[in-house]
Amino acid sequence: MLSKEDNELLTRVGPATLMGSLLRRYWQPVLYSDELPERDGSPVRVRLLGEDLIAFRDTGGKVGLVSLHCPHRGASLFYGRNEGHGLRCVYHGWKFDVEGRCVDMPNETGDGSDTQRTRKIGYPCREFGGAIWAYMGPGDPPDIPELEWAQLPASHKFTTKRFHECNWAQGLEGDLDSSHVGLLHSNLNKDVPSFSAGWRPGGSYDTVGHHRSPRVETQETAFGLWVAARRPSKDGFYYWRATALVFPFYAIIPPSGDSPLHINIWQPMDDEHTLVWSIEYHGGRPLTEEERARLGSGRYAHYGAVDILPPNSEPGGRWRSKANRANDFLIDREMQRTTNFTGLRGFWCQDRAVVESMGPISDRTREHLGPSDLGVARFRRLILHAARALKDGGKLPPGLHPNSQRVRAVAALVSENASWVEAINALSIARPGEWIPAP
Ligand code: FES
Ligand SMILES: [Fe+2]
Repeated sequence: MLSKEDNELLTRVGPATLMGSLLRRYWQPVLYSDELPERDGSPVRVRLLGEDLIAFRDTGGKVGLVSLHCPHRGASLFYGRNEGHGLRCVYHGWKFDVEGRCVDMPNETGDGSDTQRTRKIGYPCREFGGAIWAYMGPGDPPDIPELEWAQLPASHKFTTKRFHECNWAQGLEGDLDSSHVGLLHSNLNKDVPSFSAGWRPGGSYDTVGHHRSPRVETQETAFGLWVAARRPSKDGFYYWRATALVFPFYAIIPPSGDSPLHINIWQPMDDEHTLVWSIEYHGGRPLTEEERARLGSGRYAHYGAVDILPPNSEPGGRWRSKANRANDFLIDREMQRTTNFTGLRGFWCQDRAVVESMGPISDRTREHLGPSDLGVARFRRLILHAARALKDGGKLPPGLHPNSQRVRAVAALVSENASWVEAINALSIARPGEWIPAP
């Protein structure tokens, strides 16, 4: 449970808010590179942290991210002409380069000095790891992030997004709550666990479905927080699954067997909408065709081809699904009675239905948290503390340094007498090319 004040602090992400100020200290993933493929191609609407923006790739291949509304009289630059190293407003022709500088005012008679007096409307962008990133904070940006998924070639990953009609934090909290997996994502037939894309009979992940009340422990780290769930295993060992919450909004989900890792990036569009980057990646090898087919089936964390609506030009308009809040996520009550626990098709749909059902911003003053919610409670405490410490004393939050970002989530069998933190830390260093399959 949170006070009303803390709930507001946690969930409001606009420019003048405490959480918005914390989030702006990090590079923001803006688009996958292939969402903005062509030089001088169509600009793309983006909504990030409550700000309406437009992304474009200029004649030289550089990417700009500028405010959607032209600083002259506010026309939308979505209609702009992307030409000759800049984006030109179609109302009176003002033109902006990738830095957001006004470089031409063809409707004015002056000597050109007016262009220099116009405020800059862009954020610095970089392109790496198959994605476009922007820095929306004060001062110099931090070093380029070194998250493992962004270090790997396209052959090693499977990338989609999901549009969520609710606040970012309540979605992310689902990733820090291992106990829901054996219920929300389960099958009614216990002999056919359906809860893992990487599931194999007899693997340790079987215990997730059979032991539904894990013991949860947490550990603060340089990247943010470990949230670890312990379940019984063979004699003398526990089965630990440790999710890495890399500040501010990256949740890395542990693997099972040789399956890829999964990362969810809970990118806030504004207070009530989230674009979740959903990425499967293997640090040791390319994904197989069979894995790609399974991940793209719509049954797991990613939309399938049949689940997705025709794209539109709104922010995140490529990533909206047919099943959504307005149609009760197409719940099938017969399926709920007979085969799966929810009657909702696909893990993504199950997760979305429950977190969006809390409302656009969950009212955390009314909750009743239990021991299984320890990871959720610690995340809130840590990020609220970090936001206040940044405001009060300028103390930088965790997860800003690339060294801290080179981390993998871990599943492991750990002796009952050993420290899970030591065991997990030893296995968690991300070295692309080196890979130890999980149990
Ligand atoms: S509103 Fe854009 S140039 Fe006038
Ligand atoms: Fe889930």
